[in-house]
Amino acid sequence: MDTSVLFCGVKFSNPTVLASGILGVTASSLINVARHGAGGVTTKSVWYKEHAGHRNPVIVVGDHYMLNAVGLPDAGIEKTRVELPKLLKESPSPVIVSIVERSIADFEKIAEEVAKLKPPLIEVNISCPNVDDEFGKPFSCSTVEAGKVTRAVKKRVGKIPIIVKLSPNVTNIVEIARSVAHNGADAICAINTLGPGLMIDIEMRASVLSNGVGGISGPAIKPLAVRCVYDIHRATGLPIIGTGGVTTGRDAVEMMMAGATLVGVGTAVHYRGIDVFKKIIQEIEDWCKKNNVKMVKNLVGILDSRSMKNVKLVS
Ligand SMILES: Cc1cc2nc3c(=O)[nH]c(=O)nc-3n(C[C@H](O)[C@H](O)[C@H](O)COP(=O)(O)O)c2cc1C
Repeated sequence: MDTSVLFCGVKFSNPTVLASGILGVTASSLINVARHGAGGVTTKSVWYKEHAGHRNPVIVVGDHYMLNAVGLPDAGIEKTRVELPKLLKESPSPVIVSIVERSIADFEKIAEEVAKLKPPLIEVNISCPNVDDEFGKPFSCSTVEAGKVTRAVKKRVGKIPIIVKLSPNVTNIVEIARSVAHNGADAICAINTLGPGLMIDIEMRASVLSNGVGGISGPAIKPLAVRCVYDIHRATGLPIIGTGGVTTGRDAVEMMMAGATLVGVGTAVHYRGIDVFKKIIQEIEDWCKKNNVKMVKNLVGILDSRSMKNVKLVS
């Protein structure tokens, strides 16, 4: 079975990709994930300067979801300069470097520095609050700011394709997707975590996470992620990394049918271990054989549109 897919001109041996933030930025950790079968690996979002995260506890897991308030900790570009060359040299799978910042000027700086290290793809995490915005709203929540940051990063990375990662915490994700597409995004990753959500320790009458609230990920957000991917695929036609709750091969097939070329796998590493990639690929292959699909890439966007005939795009 041919499980390969082409994404922005980069060949992935299979559509599974480690989602950002799940297993760090170090070369040893990410090479290990690639050796365990991931078609691609995404680094944790890197900052220009060192960035402290939140105090523990930062993660709590329920049966069908995870809440995290890790707070995007990172050692900054110096550490990336050490780890990334080794990762790029030794990873058997393509590497996506995720970048994050709180102002457009800083996004330009980190984009330029990361581009010098020549990764095949750069993901732009725009879910962070924009310090230049009057209300500190995340870039991902404004069509104008999401467009501006996309355009600014695109100018700094030469020919490296950029994937803009969108947040589901908006009224109309299609509007944001159209704006980043219009401003030069080569691809989209959808979705980042939902929420935030709150888990209460009822005996203590206190929130479980030190930060109070945390982003929701895992199986509970999958239907939302699939719908976002479907809408974005239809509205922009850009290649998509469909991310959010994918835990099994069937989930991955569903995400691809909605329009994803690659499938992000994050929280499922917690539920199924590091072998989750191999397991998902095997399950995709089994499904394809049973359903007479010869090549995995043929799954992309094949949701029968007649079943969606009563659904209108929000914009
Ligand atoms: C512990 C944790 C840390 C995360 N860190 C990042 C990050 O640094 N950058 C980012 O873009 N997304 C980050 N995410 C979001 C994931 O990449 C992914 O978009 C989200 O968890 C939904 O996918 P999942 O349900 O497969 O986990 C993080 C998620 C978790 C659970």
